[in-house]
Amino acid sequence: MEDKLISSALEVLDNSYAPYSGFNVAAAVLTSSGKIYTGVNVENASYPAGRCAECNAVSSAVSNGERRIKAIAIVSRDSKDKDRDTGYTSPCGICRQVLREFSDVAELKVIMAKSISDYKTMTLAELLPESFGPGNLV
Ligand code: THU
Repeated sequence: MEDKLISSALEVLDNSYAPYSGFNVAAAVLTSSGKIYTGVNVENASYPAGRCAECNAVSSAVSNGERRIKAIAIVSRDSKDKDRDTGYTSPCGICRQVLREFSDVAELKVIMAKSISDYKTMTLAELLPESFGPGNLV
């Protein structure tokens, strides 16, 4: 599972549009139906209008009728310094909250990958403890 998800993210990393930061990110989410949806970061000349890769992958899944995310793989690269090790990229705070909406925090695996064989996995519960979610509004 991990290798398929990481390779799906790596496949779209070249599509990342990050001319301002030079920080390319790609994500692939695995849904409860077993399908994979990808996303890349899309920056904007009006900086705050930029969107993260993880949010775009989730939006793609939801746009295709999916409502449950089981795992996400995230990969990154520095296009201004291709030799720089960008490490295990973890989702930003907003992306963690977006993932929270469509997951069971204890189950969702967040796979932060440098390559297919080099990655670190944490649950969303570990990354976003004491979270606020849809259940709080019912
Ligand atoms: N970025 C992501 O796409 N996901 C993250 O989790 C961290 C940051 C993007 C946003 C921006 O385009 C660039 O990386 C630098 O912050």
